Amino acid sequence: MAKRLPVSLGLLLFLSFCGSPLQAYKDVVFLHGLLAGAWEFDYFTDLIHKHHPGTKVYAVDMYSELSSIIGLWQQEIKSVHQRSEAIFKKLKSGIISRGILASVKHNVETFISLSAPLAGQFGDTDYLRFFFPLFIKDNIYRFFYTEEGQDTSVGNYWLDPHHQELYRNYSVYLGFLNNETVFINPQSEEYRQNFLRLKNLVLVGGPDDGVITPWQSSHFGAFDEKEVVQPMRKQKWYLNDAFGLKTLDQAGAIHMYTEPNVTHHFWHVKEKIFNKYILPWL
Ligand SMILES: *[C@@H]1O[C@H](CO)[C@@H](O)[C@H](O)[C@H]1NC(C)=O
Ligand SMILES: *[C@@H]1O[C@H](CO)[C@@H](O)[C@H](O)[C@H]1NC(C)=O
Ligand SMILES: *[C@@H]1O[C@H](CO)[C@@H](O)[C@H](O)[C@H]1NC(C)=O
Repeated sequence: MAKRLPVSLGLLLFLSFCGSPLQAYKDVVFLHGLLAGAWEFDYFTDLIHKHHPGTKVYAVDMYSELSSIIGLWQQEIKSVHQRSEAIFKKLKSGIISRGILASVKHNVETFISLSAPLAGQFGDTDYLRFFFPLFIKDNIYRFFYTEEGQDTSVGNYWLDPHHQELYRNYSVYLGFLNNETVFINPQSEEYRQNFLRLKNLVLVGGPDDGVITPWQSSHFGAFDEKEVVQPMRKQKWYLNDAFGLKTLDQAGAIHMYTEPNVTHHFWHVKEKIFNKYILPWL
């Protein structure tokens, strides 16, 4: 297992925070993707400093590479609430990714998501074969939709359109955040209010990503039971505004961008992507 992995999937997320009014530039916090690490952000950090010298950039260097397979709540709770608490206290701001943006009363102003599986993942990819060689996308629900399977990050955002009842019974992360599990989140309204603290939600994805499946998950789209992609605005949790997405959308806070010809491992190393989708928000 020590060999260098062929892929670095997923949650390549980062955000800029409301800095203090005296500060020239917003602080930037970067959360790396699955099977990756803080180094993923080196290139963009250089570009940020080139354009905006003095910007504070924090790349969370935890749960890198192989260990990022552990469950997302664990990663978020541990990394964010505990280990990097110091950073976030200093920033007087809150934190990372969908789970954090919902569960913490944060001060994140803009959340930029670079091709992340925001509405789940359902596809055979190298990483799936690597970690779970005995499974394919059509049967891995048998593992992912169990308590053990929910201890893995991919299990946490696995969305099998053919096993929705099992998903609702087990999905402690995606299903829980979408407020569609049988076990109800007693704090769902608070989660919604936290998510609504965002001023901008910038969603970047593209058809040539090759890992995020369907790629529209980066725009909160997901497969229906016929494996036809339904866009964000047709999703149940959008229509009932279960976590604030509809409210943000109606306020004009959601900015969706489709960029062709970028494969998953190149989003964070292209200057064009930086200039188009990141620099304007800093
Ligand atoms: C989901 O949970 C309910 C209640 O525990 C149970 O009756 C049902 O059989 C479960 N569904 C599946 C597909 O396992
Ligand atoms: C979440 O779902 C529960 C159960 O259906 C519901 O009572 C609650 O109002 C929902 N929360 C939000 C924020 O929509
Ligand atoms: C697609 O990307 C490749 C590699 O970055 C580049 O060489 C090529 O010109 C691009 N094609 C289009 C149509 O943008």
